[in-house]
Amino acid sequence: MSIHSSIKKKITVKSVQKYKNREKLVMITAYDALFASLFEDEVDMILVGDSLNMSFLGKGDTLSATMDQMIYHTQAVCNGAQTPLIVFDMPFGSYKTKEEALGNAMRVYKETGADAIKIEGGKERVEIIEHLTKNGIAVVAHIGLMPQFVRSEGGYRVRGKSKEDIESLIEDAKALEAAGAFIVLIEGVVSEAAKEITEALRVPTIGIGAGDACDGQVLVWSDMLGFFESFKPKFVKQYMHGAKLVKDAVKEYTNEVKSGKFPTDEFSY
Ligand code: KIV
Repeated sequence: MSIHSSIKKKITVKSVQKYKNREKLVMITAYDALFASLFEDEVDMILVGDSLNMSFLGKGDTLSATMDQMIYHTQAVCNGAQTPLIVFDMPFGSYKTKEEALGNAMRVYKETGADAIKIEGGKERVEIIEHLTKNGIAVVAHIGLMPQFVRSEGGYRVRGKSKEDIESLIEDAKALEAAGAFIVLIEGVVSEAAKEITEALRVPTIGIGAGDACDGQVLVWSDMLGFFESFKPKFVKQYMHGAKLVKDAVKEYTNEVKSGKFPTDEFSY
């Protein structure tokens, strides 16, 4: 039985901890109120990911997303969904120092209803996460394949393929948990390594392309609903073929307008 069996309660930074070793956590991305409201009753958490820079704005990577854009989209998501825990993805360059990270994170709390922020990075982020959590900001840490490093790393690389890399990821995860991160998100890591990281932590892990042993899963909504026809990484399961459904419907609409079949009396005053 679900932890929230009948009436769905707000998922909080505190209540999310109860899921570890009891029930898998479900997270999805959303960038607007409409989709957030469609997802609200089904998921535990919504991530307003900087992936919106690619799937919503059509850019090649996430690096040019700004605080203003992320705040605008997070306000929309918070308008559409109240019960899921909402996580704001701090954009590239918004948390270079602990002071800058805190200033920007406080702006997130003041201007949106987000419950937490997410930052990418390993041990090198410990000081920043300690500063944020001491000042009342809840932090999701993001390790493994980190899309904000795509240019400096020369591409997207799956992590955890060697013993040394697994050890380094476990060290990162433990350091981030000790610094106060309440969730560790693991992206693009081989399943066995993600399992070892999950077992090493008290806080829940959320995986994307990290196998089935994580405490929960996250997928980008437009990938899992099949709206991105040209982008289909191995870890994405398409639960519907959104692009085809939309194209077929718009084709039918166009044909009916051109042929005079729409609008009939039923759709006229
Ligand atoms: O920006 C995003 O959507 C993310 C997920 C891929 C985890 O960070």
